[in-house]
Amino acid sequence: YTALLDLNDLSKGTYPHYMIKEIDEQPAVIRKIVQNYQNDNGELEIDAAILEEMTASDRIYIVACGTSYNAGWVGKQIIENLTNIPTEVHISSEFGYNMPLLTEKPFFIFLSQSGETADSRQVLVKINALGHPSLTLTNAPGSTLSREAKYTLLLHAGPEIAVASTKAYTAQIAVLAILGELAGRRKGFALDLDIAHELGIAATAIESIIDEKEVFEQLSVTHLSTSRNAFYIGRSIDYYVVMEAALKLKEVSYVQTEGFAAGELKHGTIALIEEGTPVISIITDPTTAGHTRGNAQEVISRGAHSMIISLDGLDQPEDAYVLPKVHHLLTPLVSVVPTQLIAYYTSLHRGNDVDKPRNLAKSVTVE
Ligand code: G6P
Repeated sequence: YTALLDLNDLSKGTYPHYMIKEIDEQPAVIRKIVQNYQNDNGELEIDAAILEEMTASDRIYIVACGTSYNAGWVGKQIIENLTNIPTEVHISSEFGYNMPLLTEKPFFIFLSQSGETADSRQVLVKINALGHPSLTLTNAPGSTLSREAKYTLLLHAGPEIAVASTKAYTAQIAVLAILGELAGRRKGFALDLDIAHELGIAATAIESIIDEKEVFEQLSVTHLSTSRNAFYIGRSIDYYVVMEAALKLKEVSYVQTEGFAAGELKHGTIALIEEGTPVISIITDPTTAGHTRGNAQEVISRGAHSMIISLDGLDQPEDAYVLPKVHHLLTPLVSVVPTQLIAYYTSLHRGNDVDKPRNLAKSVTVE
């Protein structure tokens, strides 16, 4: 059904809010990205100059804010995995104050849905002055960051209206996955991967999660609509997703939420667990699943309300939701969707202005 959505339609159509419309659009966005990056022979293709400069670099610096910053961590995992190029992820504002030591041949990737974020732009101005090559991934053709960077790749997500970013996050990951595969091949790696095909599988998986959205509405109503705080925990790639999950929940629901590395629980945060505290674990990585389940047990024994979102094959009968299997580098595309829905429904049932949370702006053009 998502094929029927017009991604450029600026109206809400039959949707009550832009946020839920944009969550629903994600499978269509991913398919559109694949189409847009395919050439006439159906092969993925991006500007050869981008691949050349990226693969000639000895270190990639991803620079971004907010949700785009969180997508950057997933991008790091994908790029390092497929290209073997060390990749760092930086918050734009901090990069300005405390510029990391740059290697001899750095390559910069700016992630910005709007392409107008001032904090990111101030970094671009600095690195342009230093003469380093840069690539902006943005949803806004002609935006400032697109014009001022050497290269641009578009997200093709259609306008994102809700202040809380959803489809831009998944679009950024999809484009970074395509970039990663093509850069890896350019480096001469014989990758056993067909990312276009895997993105198609991920799109279908997201559809099936969206078809079951009532599950997340129920979880939100029962466990989050009155709680003061909440925690998301995960390890390795799931840690990157829980950072975004926590940001999404806090920004639209105003529930104070932390997303943190499950291994860090015992080093401090477990002190905050009280009777009924909601703790949501994301478990999609087989190498860390056992340890995160151990953490869930620890919080349960201290009275927390534990909800586990696991990947098919790693699931246990007590889990709140089981995600369909996708390629291991693309699990964030599916594991983030329940957390977007939880944020949406929690905000809705708390009576908040879902699309325009207090104190926030869609595009922040001041430093
Ligand atoms: C604002 C928005 C966030 C967004 C961030 C970065 O704070 O409220 O949703 O993630 O800016 O925006 P960008 O357009 O650079 O991705």
